[in-house]
Amino acid sequence: MNIQEKTRKTLAELGVNDAQGVESLFAELRKTAEQERAELVSRPASDQLHRERLCRSLRDRWLARKGGFLSQVDENWLKTAGKELKPVAGRQFNELRRFAACMEFEKLVEAVPLQPEPLQQTNLSPASDAGRVVPGDLTLPGLRRPLGSIHPITRMQREIEEIFLRLGFWIEGGPEIESTYYNFDALNIPESHPTRDDWDTFYIDAKTVLRTHTSPVQIRAMEKYGPPLYIIIPGKCYRHDNPDATHYPMFHQIEGLAIDEDITFADLKGTLDFFAKMLFGEKVRTRFQPSFFPFTEPSGEVAVSCFVCGGQGCRVCKESGWIELMGCGMVHPEVLRNGGIDPDKYSGWAFGLGVDRFAMVKHDINDIQLLFQGDVRFLEQF
Ligand code: FA5
Repeated sequence: MNIQEKTRKTLAELGVNDAQGVESLFAELRKTAEQERAELVSRPASDQLHRERLCRSLRDRWLARKGGFLSQVDENWLKTAGKELKPVAGRQFNELRRFAACMEFEKLVEAVPLQPEPLQQTNLSPASDAGRVVPGDLTLPGLRRPLGSIHPITRMQREIEEIFLRLGFWIEGGPEIESTYYNFDALNIPESHPTRDDWDTFYIDAKTVLRTHTSPVQIRAMEKYGPPLYIIIPGKCYRHDNPDATHYPMFHQIEGLAIDEDITFADLKGTLDFFAKMLFGEKVRTRFQPSFFPFTEPSGEVAVSCFVCGGQGCRVCKESGWIELMGCGMVHPEVLRNGGIDPDKYSGWAFGLGVDRFAMVKHDINDIQLLFQGDVRFLEQF
């Protein structure tokens, strides 16, 4: 039983029935206090935040009116001590109180925020920091709290959004917990399609999944707004994929959808070529190859000439000179119909890209898992 547990029991429950037992119990408590204080003092002053947190938790642990060690000891050891043990328990308790007071947890807490940092590390001055109440010497430099930065995926998403917003698209969202109808059926993905397998998709129940792509929002938007539609749809997606260097069970996609009268494949090519040039530089070229998606016809895969080597072949493009970007195609007439749009009057194109993979290519990140581990040594590089 550790000392904290012991303070929650009475002397009788602990089997302590003589003065020596009481003294050694209190001695154990004092030793713990000493050790905890020593641990705190040994922390480097640069570890300010941690020190401050530790100070406060020590103070609460020992001195809190409710549940602090001292009040527990008072309640459980002192007040319940029998006649013979009361004097020795009272004496020991008073000593413990004096001892705890000497440990000056309170003062430690107050002292920590005033730890000075080297002058060159701060540009706060009392004049520029008007309104902040700083106890103590106002000429001491202020505290510098570590600042966070925008996560590389959010940054990538915003960059892509910016380009499409400039083209007149707007941003649409949809649910991450999605019905099988919107995720599959309405997108022309029949019951027999392998992506509907339990091993590919996270099912909540027979008719509900964690969406495997952002494409279901195509149908939702068609139903909600009708044509014309120029939207992009950023969001989280989920697949039953084992994590490896390029896969993660949760990842981010951006979907693009344009529906209007007389929309052709040329519009799709022109828009995606402009997009690639805006994102990777004027010099990149785009390549469209045939592919298959049940919800587009014809379908294609878009690649961009490597923006690092210019197409010569390097580590980033795996010596191929090309970087695969996304799937795309002309919206299938059946999908338009499912969204309540007449395919004889309207046509459209769509694309879907992986934001995480874009961030990996752009920043030369060799493992997607780094993006989700929250390791500050990785994140502070962005
Ligand atoms: C789709 O999801 C289609 N909905 C895209 C689309 C939309 C095509 C509209 C045509 C028209 P795909 O399964 O290839 O396609 O996924 C698109 C991208 O998501 C991939 O290129 C990849 O970048 C990313 N992706 C897929 N699975 C994972 C995963 N497990 N981890 C990280 N990224 C992934």
